[in-house]
Amino acid sequence: MRVLVTGGAGFIGSHFAKRLAAAGEEVVVLDKLTYSGNPANLAGAQVDFVEADICDQVAVAAAAAGCAAVVNFAAETHVDRSIHGASEFIETDVLGTYVLLDWARENRTRLVQVSTDEVYGDVPEGASSCEDDPLRPSSPYSASKAGGDLQVIAAVRTHGVDACITRGSNTYGPNQYPEKIIPLFVTNALDGEPLPLYGDGRQTRDWLHVEDHCTAVELVLREGASGEIYNVGGGEEVENRELTRTILELTGTDESLVRHVEDRAGHDRRYSLDASKLRALGWAPMRSLADGLPETVAWYRDNRDWWEPIKSGDYRAYYEKQYFERLS
Ligand code: NAD
Ligand code: DAU
Repeated sequence: MRVLVTGGAGFIGSHFAKRLAAAGEEVVVLDKLTYSGNPANLAGAQVDFVEADICDQVAVAAAAAGCAAVVNFAAETHVDRSIHGASEFIETDVLGTYVLLDWARENRTRLVQVSTDEVYGDVPEGASSCEDDPLRPSSPYSASKAGGDLQVIAAVRTHGVDACITRGSNTYGPNQYPEKIIPLFVTNALDGEPLPLYGDGRQTRDWLHVEDHCTAVELVLREGASGEIYNVGGGEEVENRELTRTILELTGTDESLVRHVEDRAGHDRRYSLDASKLRALGWAPMRSLADGLPETVAWYRDNRDWWEPIKSGDYRAYYEKQYFERLS
């Protein structure tokens, strides 16, 4: 099968593209190479690469020609950046999704939309989000992802497009851009830099290893029922302050690096997914955080040549904007 993987030079998309290629599928990666897209993530992979924007109908049609499916990872993905400004989020996450859906409709092709647990918003203690729960996004990022999901749902209903949605929880592993908490805190700790913990640090996230996220998306691509939504939850809920303590231990650093800084605006307290629907299809996460986090820390320790160029480039301007006042 020939598959178009959009956003395949980013964190999760590159793991997915490599996984699919290793399984013998023909893979075309289309990626705009924004700040988080990195050709190095695809080094050695047997994939065709097209540098383009998912909002560009002509480029999408050219890259997708002959493909039996599209798996869309392309998005603006960082909540803090969406608070600074959301227009690119709306363009890529909503309009870009629409362009891909339109191509899938015209070419009677399956589309898998990779979405997020953040579309459900804050989840009270003791509850977990199910696929039919209302969408209550809190950030401009999650609102843009919810907009993309709604376009998918409408295209299935109105045009009969063969599409599924996955909603994954917080994902970690090698090759994650060092703006997200795990790679940011690990690389800062390895450099003896402060770890800026927002608010009281008691927010909870449900951690999922990137390979487990990819096996879920692959299963939905191959066996998901058209029009269905599948939650992909790691089932490992951890408070940020506890995660931070583990990172300190694994990097051989101590509490003196931790700074409690001004909270994120609109910060969701807790996410939690009920993933029983996907489990009934045969999926289960295979990597515990207890194994996956030490391996991930080791990867960042051993791969400075991957993240050091990132952290010394344009990243610096973003870091100053996001953290300078918080840390001073
Ligand atoms: P990422 O930021 O690492 O990668 C995004 C990729 O999309 C980059 O390669 C970027 O260049 C590309 N891209 C951005 N705009 C584009 C455009 N207009 N056209 C083409 N390519 C474009 O993100 P990620 O963490 O790998 O997330 C991938 C997907 O998974 C996203 O849709 C995200 O919402 C979803 N998701 C992420 C997580 C997580 O914890 N990281 C959890 C659940 C769902
Ligand atoms: O839940 C899935 C989502 O997970 C994905 O859809 C998003 O693309 C991805 O970015 C991630 O969103 P979060 O906002 O949960 O991830 P982030 O790593 O930015 O933050 C995780 C938690 O850590 C959150 O409670 C905020 C906190 N945090 C984050 C940063 C960057 C800090 O305390 N300090 C920080 O500097």
